[in-house]
Amino acid sequence: MCGIVGYIGKDNGINLVLDGLEELEYRGYDSAGIAFINDPKSNVYKEVGEVKNLKKIVQKDKPNSNLIIGHTRWATHGKPSIVNAHPHFNSDRTIYVVHNGIIENYQEIKNRLIDQGYNFISETDSEVIPHLIDYYYSKTNNILESIKLALNDLVGTYALEIISTLTPQKLYLARLGSPLVIGIMKNGYITGSDKNVVLEHTSKATFLNDYDLAEVSLSKLKIINLKDKDSNPPKIELLENEKTGNDLGNFPDYMLKEIHDTPETIKLAVTGRINPKQGNVKLGGLDSVIKELEHIDRIIIVACGTSYYAGLVGEYLIEELANIPVEVVLASEFKYKKEPISRSACVIAISQSGETADTIAALNKVKDYGVLELGIVNSIGSSVARLTDAGVYCHAGTEKSVASTKAFISQVTILTLVALRLKKSPDKISRKILSELQALPQKIKTVLNLENQIKELAKRYKDYSNFLYIGRGYNYPAALEGALKLKEISYIHAEGFAAGEMKHGPLALIDSKFPTFAIATDGPLLEKTISNIEEIKARGGPVLAVATIGNKKLKKLVDDVIYIPKTLEQTSTQLIGVVLQLFAYYMAHELSKNIDKPRNLAKSVTVE
Ligand code: F6R
Repeated sequence: MCGIVGYIGKDNGINLVLDGLEELEYRGYDSAGIAFINDPKSNVYKEVGEVKNLKKIVQKDKPNSNLIIGHTRWATHGKPSIVNAHPHFNSDRTIYVVHNGIIENYQEIKNRLIDQGYNFISETDSEVIPHLIDYYYSKTNNILESIKLALNDLVGTYALEIISTLTPQKLYLARLGSPLVIGIMKNGYITGSDKNVVLEHTSKATFLNDYDLAEVSLSKLKIINLKDKDSNPPKIELLENEKTGNDLGNFPDYMLKEIHDTPETIKLAVTGRINPKQGNVKLGGLDSVIKELEHIDRIIIVACGTSYYAGLVGEYLIEELANIPVEVVLASEFKYKKEPISRSACVIAISQSGETADTIAALNKVKDYGVLELGIVNSIGSSVARLTDAGVYCHAGTEKSVASTKAFISQVTILTLVALRLKKSPDKISRKILSELQALPQKIKTVLNLENQIKELAKRYKDYSNFLYIGRGYNYPAALEGALKLKEISYIHAEGFAAGEMKHGPLALIDSKFPTFAIATDGPLLEKTISNIEEIKARGGPVLAVATIGNKKLKKLVDDVIYIPKTLEQTSTQLIGVVLQLFAYYMAHELSKNIDKPRNLAKSVTVE
């Protein structure tokens, strides 16, 4: 959460930083700000709301600077307002700081500094940082030393960029638990919390590690690790240019565009990795750990939100196909759980962004357990990809809308490949599933053609305040994901349940004002789901169902039905997922919500 951009170079970098902030807006869009130095002066601009508001006020004044830091905020401490927006500064306005993360002991530091006569204007935790550096500067007369001393006092997580009029030729960066990358350009450096900011300008970059403090000047890039007390030459990497997905084309927003990307997403996930005739799967990212994979007897999947629901589908797939027991644990729970884990276990982290703080913490927890750590990640080179021993990239391209759509479809597809890869020997079902994965893009196109029907249904269902989503087996995680999608973008209360749980409580909710979205596609549990639907109908509950084409019985039973093409049970989530995404999308659209940027959320949850 929160996006950071910095620039030091020979040119005027103001627009470069503003454009970078726009690129990072998916991380937070409550407010934005920049600070810059035009030796000997400094200036700061802040604005509430999206980066375009900030851009407008800055560009009117046409400022010039070659040392700039910028920030787009997702509020943690204090409401979105100009004073709470970053950059924060000391009272003399000689030190400016942008911060992503949370300073857990900020109140203690603030009290200490107030006792020393310091004055605070914001409600944020971040504001303690420039004052603390100022305090140490009064003792040391050295900015780098003061930053080191200040970092030593901070408890929590941070990605920091700091500029000071006292060192007008230097940009400082520090990382603990939140990513930062430094891009090396011909005439300077562009820095930020995401490599996409850098990729616009250069493919040469270095990533900071935890406890790194970087001092960047035009003549030198120096990185010190404050834990190891090392000052190693920076490891320069060549960034891979992923498909950025920035082009909206004729779509009104990214969510709809990304739902329409899903046929391509599946192709990208399977291309070069499957041989349907033989039932084989080749995942190059796992080659280095083939031996270890042969001995695993337990898999623990850790993830958050939509990625967690993809993990639940993975549980059904891996247990059925590879016969290995799987547990799927919310990363936020796993990291504090005290359970026994033997060396023969394997932890798989699933993350679109690869930067989710809880998922990273879950991996860090098992770092010393000697277990194999794998990643299923979309963002190339992200923290999860770097932390794991091996893994499989989704290659879904950048996902810009906050609500995850194509990444979910891709994660489920990759988990299918992983399950088949872990299967001892390929058989008929392996061949059938792989052929069906090849057929899925065309079938998804058929589902996308249902858009008008789904749009009409959204008009009819938009005024309900509550929704239940139900399903059994593979359709159970789909129900959970459908409910999440609806609540996060339309703000309608929605819950997902295993259909078999209805009689254990949720049925009490049902009346004519409480609709159910039933996932009732063909499979061995269909008749059981139909019984649950009967019970809901008997109590006057409206039911909208997604079913497999040809199921006439359901049409008679429910109020509305969306038919999807025939597929295997193991590949049904991709088709159902697109229906659920389109339904949530059109519900939010009917209710005039900001679909790509739902309130209170951000794309990359980089704080706990
Ligand atoms: C919901 C959504 C979130 C993310 C979750 C994990 O649509 O996007 O629930 O799935 O924040 O994010 P990643 O996959 O980046 O770790």
